[in-house]
Amino acid sequence: MSSLPQPPPAIEMKPGVSVTARFSLLIACLAIILALQYPLFLSYFQRLTSSGPVVTGVGVDRSKVLAALSGLSQYKIKANAALHKKKREYNKLPSQQKLHLLQSLKYYTKISQATAAANTNDRVAKAVRDFGMRYYNISSLELHAYEKTRGRASGDHTQVVQALKHFVRDWSSAGEHERSATFPPILTTMKTLFPNQLREGRQTRVLVPGAGLGRLAYELAAQGFDVVANEFSPYMTLAHRYILSLHQENPIAKIDGHTFHPNINWWSHHRSNESMLRAATFPEVLPQRDVLNRLRLIEGDFVKAFLPLEESGFDAVVTLFFIDTARNIVDYLETIHKVLKPGGIWANLGPLLYGTAPLIELSLDEVLRVAEKIGFELLPVDEKWGDDTFPDVEEWKGKIKGNLAGYSWDQESLSRNAYQAQFWVGRKKD
Ligand SMILES: C[S@@+](CC[C@H](N)C(=O)[O-])C[C@H]1O[C@@H](n2cnc3c(N)ncnc32)[C@H](O)[C@@H]1O
Repeated sequence: MSSLPQPPPAIEMKPGVSVTARFSLLIACLAIILALQYPLFLSYFQRLTSSGPVVTGVGVDRSKVLAALSGLSQYKIKANAALHKKKREYNKLPSQQKLHLLQSLKYYTKISQATAAANTNDRVAKAVRDFGMRYYNISSLELHAYEKTRGRASGDHTQVVQALKHFVRDWSSAGEHERSATFPPILTTMKTLFPNQLREGRQTRVLVPGAGLGRLAYELAAQGFDVVANEFSPYMTLAHRYILSLHQENPIAKIDGHTFHPNINWWSHHRSNESMLRAATFPEVLPQRDVLNRLRLIEGDFVKAFLPLEESGFDAVVTLFFIDTARNIVDYLETIHKVLKPGGIWANLGPLLYGTAPLIELSLDEVLRVAEKIGFELLPVDEKWGDDTFPDVEEWKGKIKGNLAGYSWDQESLSRNAYQAQFWVGRKKD
């Protein structure tokens, strides 16, 4: 007898999770994922909806501004961490030596005083940060969210310290010695080369790339030029914009109204603790409103921000301690040439300290030869602006002057960082 096909065995229904419970589990998982990713979602949403200022040339990279703001926020934490480390290291000394030190000097007191000074600096850092947040329309929530996603790597303390130090170079009477070695050749030459336009009120356009904290750009605008400053480090642009906000009509702006201690972050080369801890004040002048009307800051990389512009843009380009920052110095020279009108002027003053991973490192004569090849003719400059660098080269005699110029140079320090900065003026051939 053939067997009949059997029906498939019934599927056994095990007692299991109900549909409602599964749904609740799913919702709970989603909620946990959302909570963990909240900072990311928030910062993404805020980037979409933010109405930060639109800047001519290139857009502001919001995440770079956030990084700089975060660096400013963390000034105190990072400075204190460095000072705590000094305490820990001190405590590693043998007791006998600590006793000697205690009897002859007060190392711990020095650390406490440096901590107090760091607190003062922190107030400046926070003032710059708060202004920056208002300027770029960044809320505490957005900054906090950014910091959460980035953790400890969210800001660069060294860049904060460097940017704050530039308040001395540009806007403090303590930096006068740096400005007086570098500004007069540029400002006088510009006045000589463009005498009439200023008086007739014609707009003579000057570009200052790598403007730092903007004092030279400001002084050019004060002479009557229509000035564009360009700077790509957000640490610098935040401090730059902050200082310009302290103009004469700002009710909270006061001459020398800010105090900070620029030398406490590096403990080498100090002749005394008082010298290391001493304060500097800024701004030594309040920017004038009418001058600010002739000055604007374009953020971004000089080459990328300006290369696409029309050729006949600027009457002059002024570079101060800038051309050696290039990864590719030929790009810089070509850009300077390109943005100038025919007959336009390029005034340069600075060293050749090649920095950020340069593709090529040219000597001065090579820089000049490339500049001539690109289309600049060098002009004679006043002999009072320094020593002739090429007295024996007929074509350059009287055209390239070298003069000792400091950079972030503490006048009381036991170490002096100065350059034989080179000054020249080129004209773009027609
Ligand atoms: C050595 S500092 C000089 C700053 C200012 N000119 C001064 O003399 O105080 C060079 C400046 O150029 C800026 N910089 C470097 N490369 C740049 C680039 N490709 N585009 C715009 N700025 C740049 C740096 O951020 C820095 O502020």
